[in-house]
Amino acid sequence: MPAPRPSLVPLPTHLSWRPGHFTLNRHTAVRVSAGAEPAAALLRTLLAPATGLRLPTSPDGPLVLALDPQLRGLGEEGYGLTVGPDALLLRAAHLTGLLRGVQTLRQLLPPEALAGRPRRGTPWELPCAEITDVPRHAWRGFMLDVARHFQPVAELRRYVDLLALHKLNVLHLHLTDDQGWRMPIAAYPRLTEVGGRRAQSMVGPAGSTVHDGIPHQGAYTRAELTGLVSYAAARGVTVVPEVEMPGHTRAALAAHPELGNVPARRLAVWTDWGVCDTVLAVDEPVLDFCRTVLDEVMDVFPSPHIHIGGDECPTTEWAASPAARARAAAEGLPDTAALRGWFLGRIGAHLVGRGRVPTAWAESGEGLPSEFTVMAWRDPEHTRLALKQGHRVISCHHRAAYLDYAQSADPAEPQAQPGPLVDLRAVHGHEPPDDTAMTGELLGMQAQLWTEFAPTADHVDRLVFPRLCALADRAWHGAAPWPGVHGRLRAHAARLAALGVRHGPLDPYVPLPHRPAEGQS
Ligand code: ACM
Repeated sequence: MPAPRPSLVPLPTHLSWRPGHFTLNRHTAVRVSAGAEPAAALLRTLLAPATGLRLPTSPDGPLVLALDPQLRGLGEEGYGLTVGPDALLLRAAHLTGLLRGVQTLRQLLPPEALAGRPRRGTPWELPCAEITDVPRHAWRGFMLDVARHFQPVAELRRYVDLLALHKLNVLHLHLTDDQGWRMPIAAYPRLTEVGGRRAQSMVGPAGSTVHDGIPHQGAYTRAELTGLVSYAAARGVTVVPEVEMPGHTRAALAAHPELGNVPARRLAVWTDWGVCDTVLAVDEPVLDFCRTVLDEVMDVFPSPHIHIGGDECPTTEWAASPAARARAAAEGLPDTAALRGWFLGRIGAHLVGRGRVPTAWAESGEGLPSEFTVMAWRDPEHTRLALKQGHRVISCHHRAAYLDYAQSADPAEPQAQPGPLVDLRAVHGHEPPDDTAMTGELLGMQAQLWTEFAPTADHVDRLVFPRLCALADRAWHGAAPWPGVHGRLRAHAARLAALGVRHGPLDPYVPLPHRPAEGQS
């Protein structure tokens, strides 16, 4: 009986199985064309722990990694892979395409190939196949909130590898919020010294009155973040930084009260969840602060997109502030609520001046300046409106892509953000609005993990997986009948197990039939 075919996640665009298999063994050498060396290095790095194979370079090796300009039509990330009994040929026009193909090659091997320790006795066989693969969406992202709960950089590197395995190409780091500031800024050391620590955390959802009494703190070093960026680049993943403004800034205000609307007021880093009504003031020194911070952020993160948040900015402080009212009047704005758009426009212009693309959350259908790339999270209608207005848009729809919501109706489900159920099928099933008649461009899709209820890596894994696999499949391959997708995701769990990744349910929760207790009639 032939061995069952591997279930690939994401599913390639075109895949035909062929008879036979190609075997990797200690004699297998790799033929590497000029410019393809980083793909060979990644292949060796990824396969060495489990297989112990060295895969040396040789001009007549049967495993060929080749840059081929003739495949230009497959774009930046597309690749072709031919696995025959005597040779394996991976070709792409660009290095990134080869990096994606390396991940497919890994998934064609038995799941044990993904393990972190030697797995002796496994035949390292790949079934023969012909694959041509091109992503449906250019932006396939995952946002991790390291502000609510800090994760050490080793975890972020592990996540980069997990994203790359699923051909996701953006790690969006939510680095600052009311509850913590995680990136060191040389010009303002208090941001992490003071803003990186909160006295305790809220127990339960926003509005709860219970706190745990346990301090929470953490900040990265600049070297850690620079190293993370390089590590991700070697895997074809871009790290997009987010520094929130003008709301979600309580940690910054705890460090620098002079940036607030009531400079004499002393605030602590927020210990609650929810939307905090303290926001930045709207004067030139505050804009200078933001520009200085972002200049340091741009030094560390070469990402074209720089995210400045912009969401959930209550305007009550501005309405009560004579200085903010005067600013709104001087700028010809109808009211202080319009200061949010004005603020984002000023900061966006600074980013554009430095050759970057300002990026923000869409709060409604209201216009952000046209140069902004927009992450639409509340409603697919906001995706549609932003596309109509000519924006480039990433769909982050909370009902399909917020992984902090519960993933099953099981009463044993760990505590989650109150809100809709986002199960595996909901994640895969979401089709963002798109229409070629709209002047904007749908860049792609992104999953979000806000971490109020994910204090540890274990919590993070169980919320993220397997739902992120479903998003990756949808974002790369597109729509497909659910039973087939579900079957592939269930089989893919063997890879997650080999990697030691904890995960949530693969199947919908089915309540047990009610059985009357003994003695009850
Ligand atoms: C958001 O969920 N506030 C972007």
